Amino acid sequence: MDTLDNGRLKPHFAMNGGYGPLSYVKNSSYQGGVLESAKAIIEEEIATNLDISTNQIKNTFCLADFGCSTGKNSFPAMHTIIEAIKRKHESSDLKTPEFHVFLNDVVTNDFHTLFRSLPPQRDYGVAAVPGDFHGRLLPQSSIDFAYSSWSLHWLTEVPRAVADRDSPAWNGGEIFYCRERRVVYEAYLHQFERDLEAFLKSRTVEMVEGGIMALLIPGVPEFWDPRKEFTVVSTVELLRSSLIDMAKKGRLSKAKLESLNFPHYFPTPQELSAILQRSPNFSIERMEILKTETFLNAQGHTSCFRAVHQTMLTHHFGAEIVDELFDLYRKKLEASPAFSMPDNDRTIVLLTILKRIII
Ligand SMILES: C[S@@+](CC[C@H](N)C(=O)[O-])C[C@H]1O[C@@H](n2cnc3c(N)ncnc32)[C@H](O)[C@@H]1O
Repeated sequence: MDTLDNGRLKPHFAMNGGYGPLSYVKNSSYQGGVLESAKAIIEEEIATNLDISTNQIKNTFCLADFGCSTGKNSFPAMHTIIEAIKRKHESSDLKTPEFHVFLNDVVTNDFHTLFRSLPPQRDYGVAAVPGDFHGRLLPQSSIDFAYSSWSLHWLTEVPRAVADRDSPAWNGGEIFYCRERRVVYEAYLHQFERDLEAFLKSRTVEMVEGGIMALLIPGVPEFWDPRKEFTVVSTVELLRSSLIDMAKKGRLSKAKLESLNFPHYFPTPQELSAILQRSPNFSIERMEILKTETFLNAQGHTSCFRAVHQTMLTHHFGAEIVDELFDLYRKKLEASPAFSMPDNDRTIVLLTILKRIII
């Protein structure tokens, strides 16, 4: 293996663990809401595009979920995929293999809750694989089906230029990118490109030839009207506005605010497709634009955002500001006409089905 949990990932702050009211388990229905729309497409691709004749000799079928968190949305996804593969075997004269699922997330993930949440009736083996999915994690040619949902938008690091005061891309106080500041936008886009390419390079080695990969990556459309509509990018902007208010009240320092940048990138369909098309080892079999089926009110939305970002924000600003920050954030959501209507949510999820090219 060239690298094992290769150390590229800067301090990574996992989702809120456990089963409490602030946990990711209790507050991830928004991310999970896309599986319903993705299900039919994944099932269809398994039925028509997955070659099951090749794994008859080893008689095992291995799946991996990259960025599984504590499992709430991972287990239904793994179940959907396995059931579709079983049906495919049952309608052929091929023997149904044994199933093994590898659940990956960063080392700081709450794997204890993941294990405690394992479905008791499952008919597949499970192993946890801690580490950064941008590097090698699994044995060569071992994975028949790779899956990742709502995870690949996490960057290995904030683009360096954005955090450098001497760079034209210095982003002090903005906390995220916007299309108007091209230099910052491009620094983020290039980081996303590098990271996705690193992810695909590792999966190239780990996947069997002809293996299928389903990626669900949150993104944004080419255009949306920020005065009337919102996306996942606008929620970060709302957090920034809450942080600015708190800085003005002296509740946090300007320096702390200036040094915060969110380590995410939400691609447009065109951007994602351009990166994936450059991959020499995967063919794009299908790309669909989906939406989550879940609409959250301001409180639900705040809890979801908090379950994902609390650890990072606590590390940056200290635990004492976090309740107040999310309270302010919720009030801003409630006051915003754009956020009050489900139809105004223009966040998309890009479902891509890739196939490991047979050489
Ligand atoms: C928003 S959660 C999504 C969890 C789950 N897939 C779902 O759909 O609910 C993103 C997950 O990706 C994980 N993650 C982010 N970057 C990662 C990396 N480089 N390697 C492994 N896991 C990563 C995070 O720790 C987190 O658990």
